[in-house]
Amino acid sequence: MHLIRTLFTTSTLLLGLVEASNYRITDNWVGTSFLSAFSWENIADPTHGRVNYLPQSASLARNLTYAHGTHFIMRADSATVLSPSGPGRDSNRIMSTKSYGHNTVLVADIYHMPGGCGTWPALWTTDVNTWPNGGEIDILEGVNDKSPNAITLHTSENCMMPASRLQTGTSTQLDCYWMTNGNAGCGVLERKANSYGPSFNAAGGGWFAMERTPNFIRAWFWSRQDSSVPFDVRNPGQATVNTDGWGTPTALFPNTNCDISSKFAPHKVIINLTFCGDWAGNTYLNDGCPGNCIDRVNNSPGSFTEAYWDIGAIRMYGL
Ligand SMILES: *[C@@H]1O[C@H](CO)[C@@H](O)[C@H](O)[C@H]1NC(C)=O
Ligand SMILES: *[C@@H]1O[C@H](CO)[C@@H](O)[C@H](O)[C@H]1NC(C)=O
Repeated sequence: MHLIRTLFTTSTLLLGLVEASNYRITDNWVGTSFLSAFSWENIADPTHGRVNYLPQSASLARNLTYAHGTHFIMRADSATVLSPSGPGRDSNRIMSTKSYGHNTVLVADIYHMPGGCGTWPALWTTDVNTWPNGGEIDILEGVNDKSPNAITLHTSENCMMPASRLQTGTSTQLDCYWMTNGNAGCGVLERKANSYGPSFNAAGGGWFAMERTPNFIRAWFWSRQDSSVPFDVRNPGQATVNTDGWGTPTALFPNTNCDISSKFAPHKVIINLTFCGDWAGNTYLNDGCPGNCIDRVNNSPGSFTEAYWDIGAIRMYGL
C-alpha cells in the first residue's frame, strides 16, 4: 500500500511537471515580422523621460527602425541636437498586438541592447489598461549602463515574495505592491555581470526567458557563449521548449504569499527605450555619469550611438 501510494504520487508529480513545462511555439518573431506583430506607440512617456516616441512609419523612414533577415533593429536618434523647449530624443516604444496569459513562455534572443549614460531600456509585459491590478513583469531593465539586469514584478496590494527561494539571483525588495517605496517592485538581481549593458553587448548578447503559470513566475538568462544555454533555447527550429530542463532560474516568484493567478492578467509584450526620467535621471550621478542627464540628451547626440536594440528573435510558447 505504502509502495503503491508512493509510486502513484511520484508518477502524478512527474506527469504534472511534464505537463506544466512542455510548451509549444505560438509566435516566432524574426526580422520584418516584428513590423506587423507590434504597434509603435507614439505616446508621452508615463515615466517622464526626455523622449519622443515615433510612429512606425516615421521610424522606418528615418531608419530608426530597420528589419532585415534575422536582425530587428530599433534605435534612438544619435545625430540631432535638440531644442531644450522642444520634444525629447526620438526613440521607439513597441507593444505586441496579442496578449499572453498564464502557462506561456517568452524567449528573447538579443544581440545588442541600448547603452549609454541616460538610457533606460526595458523589455517587459503588462496590461496597460488594468495596470497595476493586472500586474507587470520586467524581464530586462536597467539604467545608465549599470549591470546586472533586474527582473521585477509590480502588483496590487498583498503580494509578498519569500526571502529564501530556489533561484540563482539576489532578491532586493520582497513586497511587489506598487505603492511600496515608490513602485520599486519585488526585484531579483542577476548574478552574471554580462546580463546588462556594455558587457552584455561585448559578449554578443544572449537569451532572456520568462515563464508564467498560475503558481509561479520564473526568469532565466544565458550569455551568448554560455556553455549551459539549453538546446531548445539556442536552437530556433524547436517546436517545443521544456522549462524544467533549463536549470535553476535567475528569479523564482512563487504563489506562497501572492495569488499569482489573480494578480497577473493576460499581458502584452512591450519594448521601450527612454532617457533620464523617473529612474535613469534620478540615479544618473550616482551611477557615475558625467554632467547632467537632460543636457546630455539635448546636446550630445553622439553619446547615443550605442542606444539601439538588435534583436534576433522573440518566441512565444503556450501549453
Ligand atoms: C518603459 O519601460 C518601463 C518598464 O519598466 C516602464 O516603467 C516605463 O513606464 C516605460 N515607459 C514607457 C513610455 O512605456
Ligand atoms: C539602416 O540601418 C541599417 C542597420 O544599421 C543599415 O545597415 C542600413 O544601411 C541603413 N539604411 C540606410 C538607408 O541608411
